[in-house]
Amino acid sequence: MATPAENSLTFAHHPHPSPVAADVRAQVLANPGFGAAFTDHMVEIDYTEGRGWHDARVIPYGPIALDPAAAVLHYAQEIFEGLKAYRLSAKGSEEGGIALFRPEANAQRFNASARRLAMPELPEDLFIEAVRQQVLIDKDWFPTVEGGSMYLRPFMFASEAFLGVRPAKQYKFMVIASPAGNYFKSGAPAVSIWVSDYTRAAPGGTGAAKCGGNYAASLVPTAEAFSRGHDQVLFLDAAEHKWVEELGGMNLFFVFDDGSILTPELTGTILPGITRSSLLKLAAEEGLTVREGRYSLDQWQADAASGRLLETFACGTAAVVTPVGKVASQAGEFAIGSGGPGQLTQSLRAKLVGIQRGEIADTHGWVKRIA
Ligand code: PLP
Ligand code: COI
Repeated sequence: MATPAENSLTFAHHPHPSPVAADVRAQVLANPGFGAAFTDHMVEIDYTEGRGWHDARVIPYGPIALDPAAAVLHYAQEIFEGLKAYRLSAKGSEEGGIALFRPEANAQRFNASARRLAMPELPEDLFIEAVRQQVLIDKDWFPTVEGGSMYLRPFMFASEAFLGVRPAKQYKFMVIASPAGNYFKSGAPAVSIWVSDYTRAAPGGTGAAKCGGNYAASLVPTAEAFSRGHDQVLFLDAAEHKWVEELGGMNLFFVFDDGSILTPELTGTILPGITRSSLLKLAAEEGLTVREGRYSLDQWQADAASGRLLETFACGTAAVVTPVGKVASQAGEFAIGSGGPGQLTQSLRAKLVGIQRGEIADTHGWVKRIA
């Protein structure tokens, strides 16, 4: 549990002496892509066993000094989160503010990841305050492109210099920010995915945690997907290599002709996406039958062929809601729908994005206004 002192850490501010020039920033903000540009500042908080979290600060964005023996560099004791800040649409005379979407869900998942990786938890309030500080110091970094947002990357790693294999006694928590446009470069109306023969996560492993190691394991399969001309990699379950789990960085949904939608159930090997949980709720409210269960690659192909399956889409903070148009594996490939975004994919996306940007009433308390 957090001590009151940790919850009320005061953030020291050290503004950047030479931030990015306004004209250079404007160029970036007009076409940010994803994950390539970073704002002027970052947040850092230290943890020392016996002392807890201390020295919260907002400092100029830049390289960090690490001991070469820092445990993270050897045993990958690292976790992260991904969430976005949105500029709210202006309403009447009211100026649009800035909001986070369900940041407490990210704070909770961060702590679940921390427990799995034997790392200290960060008080939820401190996680959210760190993110808030990061957004506010760099609030001039919101993209000007349609659909743009500020992607936030909170992360924690073991900084203790020690080569014995045990949980470290020192950590750093940081937040960096990146102006974000579209995650997928291709600009295609629907993405193409490659079903990998590799396994991402096994029962009892770290699949449900958002730790860097999971993504390291996905890089060879991802490179393989790219080299075959696909946009994302899909992983099947580790035991039977039959059941659809998730993509390298997104969850999946299937839309059927009977008005039902299905997403793989959370069995401990897939990441419990916050977009996934939001869409489950929104779809149920639209009157759809919502199911969380198993779905095999074979059944998916058969349903696409018979017309029972109407749409498939990927979802996540970075990808938002992205239609899947083609699925390929060693066994061959199949198409879904007409290759463009399906009706439900579009309407669920519009609803989610509308709530996130303050254009549709937030009846769930998901939107946390911070400015
Ligand atoms: N699955 C994986 C492996 C991811 O990396 C992500 C992205 O964070 C998701 C699913 C979707 O999660 P969320 O909707 O919380 O962004
Ligand atoms: C996200 O959507 O936040 C992700 O983490 C996906 C990917 C960029 C790792």
